[in-house]
Amino acid sequence: MSRSAHPAGPRYADVLHEGHYTPPPADLNALDPRVWSRTVTRNADGVVTVGGRSVTELAEEFGTPAYFLDESDFRARCRAWRDAFGPEADVFYAGKAFLSRAIVRWLKEEDLNLDVCSGGELATALDAGMPAERIALHGNNKSTEEITRAVEAGVGRIVLDSFQEIVRVAHIAERLGKRQRVQIRVTVGVEAHTHEFIATAHEDQKFGLALAGGQAAEAVRRALKLDGLELVGIHSHIGSQIFDMAGFEVSARRVVQLLAEVRDEHGVELPEIDLGGGLGIAYTSEDDPREPHEIATALRTIVTRECAAAGLAVPRISVEPGRAIVGPTAFTLYEVGTVKELPGLRTYVSVDGGMSDNIRTALYDAEYSVALVSRSSTAEPMQVRVVGKHCESGDIVVRDAFLPSDVAPGDLLAVPATGAYCRSMASNYNHALRPPVVAVPEDGKARVIVRRETEEDLLRLDVG
Ligand code: LLP
Repeated sequence: MSRSAHPAGPRYADVLHEGHYTPPPADLNALDPRVWSRTVTRNADGVVTVGGRSVTELAEEFGTPAYFLDESDFRARCRAWRDAFGPEADVFYAGKAFLSRAIVRWLKEEDLNLDVCSGGELATALDAGMPAERIALHGNNKSTEEITRAVEAGVGRIVLDSFQEIVRVAHIAERLGKRQRVQIRVTVGVEAHTHEFIATAHEDQKFGLALAGGQAAEAVRRALKLDGLELVGIHSHIGSQIFDMAGFEVSARRVVQLLAEVRDEHGVELPEIDLGGGLGIAYTSEDDPREPHEIATALRTIVTRECAAAGLAVPRISVEPGRAIVGPTAFTLYEVGTVKELPGLRTYVSVDGGMSDNIRTALYDAEYSVALVSRSSTAEPMQVRVVGKHCESGDIVVRDAFLPSDVAPGDLLAVPATGAYCRSMASNYNHALRPPVVAVPEDGKARVIVRRETEEDLLRLDVG
C-alpha cells in the first residue's frame, strides 16, 4: 500500500501503519464503486441498497451478521472472464473462494467451468448438476476416495501434484477401466506478491513439482508411460491477490519452455496449459486491480509469442479465477453492539460477527473498508477499529478505518469485498453460528442460498 507520510505529524490518535498517515475520505457517505458491487448505492434517505433493497429491510428479513451477494454482479464478472478469454480458452471458477449449489448453477448458466479441491466441493458441484467434464480436481494430497469418486464421475481433468499421485491416479483409473485426463502442476520458481514480484524464489512450498532441478520433466516422463493417464497439459498457479502481471508472464513463459522440452524429448505436443488464478481485487480504494481482458490479452500475447519462438502450436489456455469473480460481489452486514472510546488511543466499534465470519484480517493482516450503511451522517470522521464479539483480542474485522463519530449501537455497518474466502473460511469459534449467504438479484427478490446455522446444527454434531 502506498501511503504518504504526514508532513506535520499525526492528527489522529492512531497512526495508520507505523509512521504513515492516511487522511479520512472526503465524504464518508460515498461508496467507491471499486470496492462495492455493481448494484450497491445509497438512496435518497441515506440508506444503502443492493438490488434496490435497503440494508435495513434486508437486516430485518435475514438478520445480521449476513453476507449479501449481488447476483447480477457475479454473473457479469463470469461473463467478463468468459468473453475476455473467448471460445478458444477455458475459465474455471475456483470453488474454494466460495461454493454453493446456486453458485454452481450460475456458473453452468454462464458457461464457466469449475475447479474443486476437495471431496466436499466435488460433491457440491455434482449435486448441483455441473457436468463432470467441466470439473477439474485439485489438491496436494487427494485421498483415494476423492480420486476414485472423481474418476468414476468422469471429471474433465485431475491436476497431479506429486510423484505418488501420478501412480495413484493411474492405478485407480486402470482399475475402473478408464483413461483419466490429467495435467501436471509445476512450480515455476516465481514468487508473486500483492505489489511486488520476486523471481525464482518460491520453490520451498508444498504444491506442485519444480521445473528447476527437473522434477517436472521427470513427472511428465512418468505420466506419459502410464496407461491409465492421458497427459493433456501443464498447470501453474503462482499465488493470490496479485496485481502485477509480470509473475503471470514469467510463469507462462516457463510453462511453454517445458512444453518445448517435452516435445523435444518425447515427440509429444501437450495441448493444454493452465495458468491458475490469483488476480487481485480492490479491498480498499487504494487497490487498483487489472481487468479480465487485460489479463487475457497479456497471457495470450506471451503464450503466442513463446510458442512461435519454440515452433509449437498454441495450446488451449485455461485460468482459474476465484477471488476476482466472487470477491467483489458480496458485503457482510453487521449490527453495532458497542462503541468504546479509549482516550488517547482509538475507538473500538464492536459488531455482532468477527473472526468466525472473516478470518482474513487476523490471518493475513488483510485490509478492508467499512461504511455506515443504515443511514448517512454528517458527523466528523472518527478513526476506529471494527472488532468482532469473539474472546480474542486479535478478533479484528477492519483494523483501521474512519466512521462518522456519531456511530452508535443499532447502526448497521457493511464491509465490502467479502465474497471470497470469508464464508468459505468461516468457523464455529466460540460456537458462533455461521452467517447465511443471501443472493440479491437485480429485481430485489433476495433469497437465502446458504442458510444461517442454528444451535440445533451445532448440537447435532455433538454426539457425546
Ligand atoms: N487455482 C489454484 C490451484 C489455487 O490454489 C487457487 C487458490 C486458485 C486457483 C484461486 O485463486 P484466486 O483467484 O481466488 O486468488 N485463503 C486465501 C487465498 C488462498 C488461495 C488458495 N488457492 C485468502 O483468503 O486470501
